Amino acid sequence: MQVQMRIRRFNPEKDNKAWWGEYTLDDVHPTDTVLDLLNRVKWELDGTLSMRRSCAHGVCGSDALRINGANALACKTLVQRLGSENVKIQVEPILGLRVIKDLIVDMEPFFDHYKSVLPYFINDEPVPENGRERLQSQEDRARFDDTTKCILCAACTTSCPSFWANERYVGPAAIVNAHRFIFDSRDRAAEERLKVVGDTFGVWRCRTNFNCSNACPREIEITKAIAEVKQVLVSGEI
Ligand code: SF4
Ligand code: F3S
Ligand code: FES
Repeated sequence: MQVQMRIRRFNPEKDNKAWWGEYTLDDVHPTDTVLDLLNRVKWELDGTLSMRRSCAHGVCGSDALRINGANALACKTLVQRLGSENVKIQVEPILGLRVIKDLIVDMEPFFDHYKSVLPYFINDEPVPENGRERLQSQEDRARFDDTTKCILCAACTTSCPSFWANERYVGPAAIVNAHRFIFDSRDRAAEERLKVVGDTFGVWRCRTNFNCSNACPREIEITKAIAEVKQVLVSGEI
């Protein structure tokens, strides 16, 4: 089949403002991914197109893009999901972060929010005698299983109207990663993390919009995780 691609382009060295590049691709297979098509545009039609991608299998999180108006990973979006005849695909950079070139945005503010929640295991207590690992029941492990799946693609945070309105909002991805450790019975730094996600630019900026949950390529129940963190802040109990 034939696909019309419309890609948001911007080269800060040449362009005063962003513009739409239009590209026609023939012999597209319904099971090709949007990443396959972007690669074809770059390799066959215009080598100056810039984008991030690496694994092509939904693991590295580097190709979150706005595809036909909704955030998704290009490598996990099949053409057949976007139509079967006269398919038109519009691709833009994710919103709310500065565009560096074409589809590449500056991820630094996103990772600054991520780092602010101390997204790593903290426990300074001596390791258990006999040097074995810190044990945890299956029930305790299940409490944060969903939030371990994050690949830091930013599809959630950059689809959130509260983040668009104020980039200081820590955003759903950071809260997901705070949740992963707050609910880990072996961790000892929940209080510090709750201070970050409980402040003015934390969870209370979330208006339960659900864009984040709908955008997550790992199907993490983000809005539920945010609600659980809010609940801990209100009740004082984990
Ligand atoms: Fe991506 Fe989901 Fe992690 Fe958000 S929570 S960064 S959408 S994997
Ligand atoms: Fe934003 Fe998700 Fe809340 S989209 S408003 S963080 S439910
Ligand atoms: Fe790695 Fe898509 S290229 S997640």
